[in-house]
Amino acid sequence: MLDQLNALERAALRELKELDNLAALDGWHAQYLSRKGELTQLLRGVGQLAKEQRPAAGRRANEVKTTLEAAFELRQADLKRQARAQSLAAEQIDVTLPGRPPSLGRLHLSTQVLRRVYAIFADMGFQVYRAPDVETDETNFELLNIPPHHPARDMWDTFYTTREGVLLRTHTSPGQIHAMRQYCPEPIRVILPGMCYRYEQVTARSEMMFHQVEGLAVGKHITMTDLKGVMAEYARRMFGADRKMRFRASHFPFTEPSVEVDMDCILCGGAGCRICKYTGWLEISGAGMVHPIVLRNGGYDPDTYSGFAFGMGVERPAMLIHGIDDIRYFFSNDLRFLKQF
Ligand code: FA5
Repeated sequence: MLDQLNALERAALRELKELDNLAALDGWHAQYLSRKGELTQLLRGVGQLAKEQRPAAGRRANEVKTTLEAAFELRQADLKRQARAQSLAAEQIDVTLPGRPPSLGRLHLSTQVLRRVYAIFADMGFQVYRAPDVETDETNFELLNIPPHHPARDMWDTFYTTREGVLLRTHTSPGQIHAMRQYCPEPIRVILPGMCYRYEQVTARSEMMFHQVEGLAVGKHITMTDLKGVMAEYARRMFGADRKMRFRASHFPFTEPSVEVDMDCILCGGAGCRICKYTGWLEISGAGMVHPIVLRNGGYDPDTYSGFAFGMGVERPAMLIHGIDDIRYFFSNDLRFLKQF
């Protein structure tokens, strides 16, 4: 029995030394130290020995058990350390490598143009006034002097909601009513930017959803000259110092007199080209003096107060500045287009 125990101890320690991974170590433990392992089998045999041999064999068997258990624990700690070192080496991160640049978004072209417009008008003392995209028939039309069945409604057909009289605004002009009612009787100098919606035949020049910037100034001595000065300054800063301008008689129900503001074509310099339809001029804004009825609807007495208003697109000027030939690119979410600006 003693010989068997010595031989088992030698063999187990030798094998233990040769192991090189934790799975093999588990196998070794099962072979020698588990309940069905070789040492346990030998220990069971001690009871069958002659009485005088039992103490020595029992003692030796326990020594072997203690030795093997201690050796097992040492080897286990050793192999675990090795495994951790290996995984650290294999999964090492080189913190000195350059990082991957995050893909940065950018402002939409319309937003970029809007911000230029804000900056130009801010320098002339105009504040940004936010008005809702969803309006009523009353604010979008009636209070702007466009009663039901007025022919001007044909120019501004829109999207109606299922709630009677509630619609998506066709222009930013209803914001004039909101601003006047909020500030009356104070003087006003605001721009009202935002989306407009029209039930429109979509073409290269016309979208059913586009931005406008409305302008409104109300006070005691405001004249058409002020409107002209503001428009000229805007065109100069937006499109270049040498821009020429002209006012052309027009009609809007909410202004009197009404004009269209044109500037000389920035592409051909006025000589005539496809973009300006060979006229040499490009329309940049509708404008005029605020109609007395509209002033009154906003709370201002037209005998004491006067004002000017204008309303211009955002995408069409952006097309001119960047030579874009189709307005449909703006909101079709094509990154090849959007990334160019
Ligand atoms: C108006 O909407 C008036 N409310 C402007 C106004 C305000 C006049 C205050 C007087 C006083 P108009 O429908 O022309 O006017 O539109 C003004 C600008 O919006 C146009 O010059 C154009 O730049 C832009 N616009 C109009 N319809 C579209 C469209 N379908 N797609 C893109 N831009 C458009």
